[in-house]
Amino acid sequence: MSAKLINGKEIAAQVRQQVAAGVEARKQKGLRAPGLAVVLVGNDPASRVYVGNKIKACEETGILSLSYDLPEDTSQDALEALVDELNENPAVDGILVQLPLPAHLDADPILVKIRPDKDVDGFHPYNIGRLMQRKPTLRPCTPAGVITLLDSIDTPYKGQHAVIVGASNIVGRPMSMELLLRGATTTVCHRFTDNLEKYVGEADILIAAVGKPGLVKGEWIKPGSTVIDVGMNRTEDGKLRGDVEFEAAAERAAFITPVPGGVGPMTIATLLQNTLYAADVLHQ
Ligand code: GUN
Repeated sequence: MSAKLINGKEIAAQVRQQVAAGVEARKQKGLRAPGLAVVLVGNDPASRVYVGNKIKACEETGILSLSYDLPEDTSQDALEALVDELNENPAVDGILVQLPLPAHLDADPILVKIRPDKDVDGFHPYNIGRLMQRKPTLRPCTPAGVITLLDSIDTPYKGQHAVIVGASNIVGRPMSMELLLRGATTTVCHRFTDNLEKYVGEADILIAAVGKPGLVKGEWIKPGSTVIDVGMNRTEDGKLRGDVEFEAAAERAAFITPVPGGVGPMTIATLLQNTLYAADVLHQ
């Protein structure tokens, strides 16, 4: 392996420390702790693990967490009523509704109902619009966390070709806006892209966010490039695997993120940053 590893675990720990210091600074000024409401509906085991990790991370940084564990048969009205209540609660700076929701619930009206200044996931159309118009406020956590990783290796952005594989609302699309904002030339590839190999081969910065283990072949990677693997795929033997063939890609790339321990820890660290930002800047 010739690539340098980008250690997401370590960088996320630094971000968490900065957040903890920010929370402590509020305390010193006599201000309340930032508050994050975390809403889980139903019994999806992966969601339960993610939510548990988010609550634990709040506790470790001094952020107040309010946890709502709702049954699988929760109605659309009941969930929207809870969002209304949290919107009005002055102790709550951030509201997070864990996705995916059970099939009978419609996520869109719920995400739109969350007050944009409490939308710490950055999914509200207002916040996505702000990012598109180059004045981001609350930014989607995973793409913003990827930018923190790219900044940590002094990525120059300008003049670089960033290729994003995957066009989801949560990662691919906002990721393209974040990179464009920093001056990269961006290409977004998706399921209808012909000749994915050609685009990957031209990427100075490659972001893989598809959710298909090993979709991006190591031999496609441009020598000397930076490879960020957002994929978190559980294999039959219970291991986590990214979207990129790691070993072969690491022979060609200059920098690469591992899975696990790359992008994953950055999502929660950025959520904490967003919650502190909402308390400090949006809810003074
Ligand atoms: N499900 C998968 N990723 C996320 C995320 O970043 N936020 C929320 N709310 N749900 C998710």
